[in-house]
Amino acid sequence: MTRIIAVSGAASGIGKSLAELLRSGGDRVIGVDLKDTDVSADLSTPEGRDAAVRGVLELSGGRLDGVVACAGISAPVALTIKVNFYGVVGLLEGLRPALAEAPAPRAAVVGSISGTQQSDPAVVAACLDGTETEAVRLAEEAVGRHHGGLLYPSSKTALARWLRRASVTPEWAGAGIPLNAIAPGVVLTPMTAPLFEDEAMVKIMEEAVPMPLNGHAGPEVVAEGLRWLISPGNSHVTGQVVYLDGGAEATLRGPDLY
Ligand code: NAI
Repeated sequence: MTRIIAVSGAASGIGKSLAELLRSGGDRVIGVDLKDTDVSADLSTPEGRDAAVRGVLELSGGRLDGVVACAGISAPVALTIKVNFYGVVGLLEGLRPALAEAPAPRAAVVGSISGTQQSDPAVVAACLDGTETEAVRLAEEAVGRHHGGLLYPSSKTALARWLRRASVTPEWAGAGIPLNAIAPGVVLTPMTAPLFEDEAMVKIMEEAVPMPLNGHAGPEVVAEGLRWLISPGNSHVTGQVVYLDGGAEATLRGPDLY
């Protein structure tokens, strides 16, 4: 039977590439994005997340084989926490009951090498164990202290830790749902395009995220990794943050972490 896979961020970059790849392999994809795909919804708000879940299930007839949360932003503002952490977790949790009914359910998210870099510990802790209101208030305070740049890494750190925790629970592993992340280095998408217009910024990126293996990647490279994680062939990999980063994580964190 044709698999049905929900992909957020399907209108651009990595999500768009993944949607194309899955469709070319015979899957049916239900895209979720602000606009220009199957379900238009704003994942930064609780109402938008509910609308996304409803919209996907309406189109799928309640049947779902996979969810991949790609939607994200990288701005140094509190909205980044809402979209990258709560938007991802809300979509996954909202679709999980439908997913659990599938014969070989799969879920994946897009993390980032930034999740290994300096973050705001209070914001991360609030994401994991507090409320969204509290996390957003702390994020706004960080912006007020001119630390907005820590919010993108914070969103991805919190997401990786949430995934490590959730993946092995009865709701995910116990329901037979592998839950993993691909954490890219620098990917050439509309998100990073403005950075590549600035030579000084390219140098900063190359130092912050060295990619000795094949350099910066295209979105289709990340899509391939996601495709495997949600394939029926992946029956036992779960709770993993897979660095698809040309060697950046191994370079930066060294041989003692694995
Ligand atoms: P992109 O900007 O090309 O695509 C992101 C998509 O998310 C867009 O279509 C956008 O409309 C959607 N989106 C943003 N806010 C939304 C909201 N509130 N509700 C619904 N949809 C929303 O970016 P790209 O590069 O494809 O990013 C995809 C994921 O990959 C993100 O989670 C990003 O953090 C992550 N990533 C990207 C890297 C890069 O170098 N491009 C590196 C590491 C991670």
